[in-house]
Amino acid sequence: MRYDELVQPQRVHGSLYTSPEIFADELAKIWYRSWVYVGHVSEIAAPGDYVRKSIGPQDVIMSRDAGGEVHLLLNRCAHRGNLVCEADKGNSSSFRCPYHGWTYRNSGELIGYPFPQGYGGRGKLDELGLGRVPRMAVYQGFVFGSFAADGPSLAQHLGDAAGEIDRLVRLSPEGEIEVKAGWLKHRARANWKLLAENETDGYHPQFVHASIFSVAESGIGALYGEKSTAVTRALGNGHSENDLRPEFRRLGAPLGWFGTTEAKVPDYVAAMRALHGPAAEDILVEGAPHVMIFPNLFIAEISMFTIQPLAADLTVQHVTAVQLKGAPEMNRRMLQQCVGSVGPAGLLLADDTEMYERNQVGVAELRPEWLDVRRGAHREHVDERGLTVGGATDETGMRGFWAHYKELMSA
Ligand code: FES
Ligand SMILES: [Fe+2]
Repeated sequence: MRYDELVQPQRVHGSLYTSPEIFADELAKIWYRSWVYVGHVSEIAAPGDYVRKSIGPQDVIMSRDAGGEVHLLLNRCAHRGNLVCEADKGNSSSFRCPYHGWTYRNSGELIGYPFPQGYGGRGKLDELGLGRVPRMAVYQGFVFGSFAADGPSLAQHLGDAAGEIDRLVRLSPEGEIEVKAGWLKHRARANWKLLAENETDGYHPQFVHASIFSVAESGIGALYGEKSTAVTRALGNGHSENDLRPEFRRLGAPLGWFGTTEAKVPDYVAAMRALHGPAAEDILVEGAPHVMIFPNLFIAEISMFTIQPLAADLTVQHVTAVQLKGAPEMNRRMLQQCVGSVGPAGLLLADDTEMYERNQVGVAELRPEWLDVRRGAHREHVDERGLTVGGATDETGMRGFWAHYKELMSA
C-alpha cells in the first residue's frame, strides 16, 4: 500500500476508511505497535482488582496483584485458548479457565491444572502463563500498553500531549483524577479515524450540536466560531487539541469553562486556593483540556473517551465522566453533565455518531475519492514550542493526525 499517495498534505483517500486490508495493516502498524491507552490505576485501586480492557480488538485484563503491581494480561488460556476472564471487573487473586480448569495467578503465572498426572505431575508447565502486553507504562495514573517490545518510550510518544494530562489532573485538589463513574459503550458503524479526527474538529459543533447549544443555552457554540480566539493545535505524534483557554481567559471567570460559578462549588474552590495559592486563579479560569491523544484517548473536559476499532467500519467508543479526587461537589456535576451530553439519551454524542455513520456510508461512494483536509492551512503558524497552530475551526489537528499516521503506516 502506498500510504504516501493515499495520505497527502491537504487530502486523504476514501479507501483509508473502508478497506479491510488497510484496517489489518493499521492493527499491525499502529494498534499493535504504538502506545495505546488502556485504563487508569484508580480502576484497580486495591490488590486483586481487575478490569477488562482492550487494545483494538485484543481483550486485555488490567490487574493489580497482591504486591500492588499492575499487569496487562491477554485474556487467553495457555491450554487451548479459551477466555479466562468473563466479568468486566472484579476482585480475585486468580483467574480460572472455564474449559478445563487451568488456573492463573492475577499476575499471569499458571498455578494449577486439574489431573496433573496427564502432564507427568505438578509444576511441569511452568513455562506457560497468560500472554502479556510486552510494554506497559503509567503517566499520571493513565496506563498505556504497547505490543512492540521496543520503540519510543511513553514519554517520547506523549511529548507535548503530556502537559494536557497534567492540566486535567491539576484540577483535582489532590492532584489525581479517578475513573470510577462506570463506562458507557457506544457502537458506531464507522471507521475509527472518523472519530479520532472529529474529536478536535472545531468546524462541526455549530452545525451538528446546534440543538444542544440552543436548549442548554450554552456558550460552547461560540468557542467554535470564526470570531473565537480559541486555537487548534497539532501537538505532535498525531495528538491534537482545541485550546479554548484564550476564550476562557477573556471570560475571566473561575469555572466559567464548566458553565458554573464558584458560589456553586465553594468547598472545591477553597480547597484549590488552599493548595495552589494565587496560582489557583489561572487553573480555575483555564479549566480542563480538550485533547485527542493518538490513537485512542480523548479527554473532552469533563468526559473521557477511548476509541476501540473492531473492523474497518465498526468502532466502539467507551466513555466515562472524569472524577476529580477530593472534589465531591465537582464530581456530581461532572457526572450529570457527562450523562446529559454523551449518555444513552445524551444530546451531544448521539449527533456525532449519526455523523460518523453517515460519513462511513458516504466515503464508500466512488467519486470524488478524496476527503479534503485543507481548512486553515494558509493561516497556520508555528508557536514558541514549535507546534503548529490554526484557528478554532481549522483542520490543523487532522493534518497532524495524518502526518503521524503516514509515518507509522509507511514504516
Ligand atoms: S482452554 Fe483453558 S483450560 Fe483448556
Ligand atoms: Fe461533536
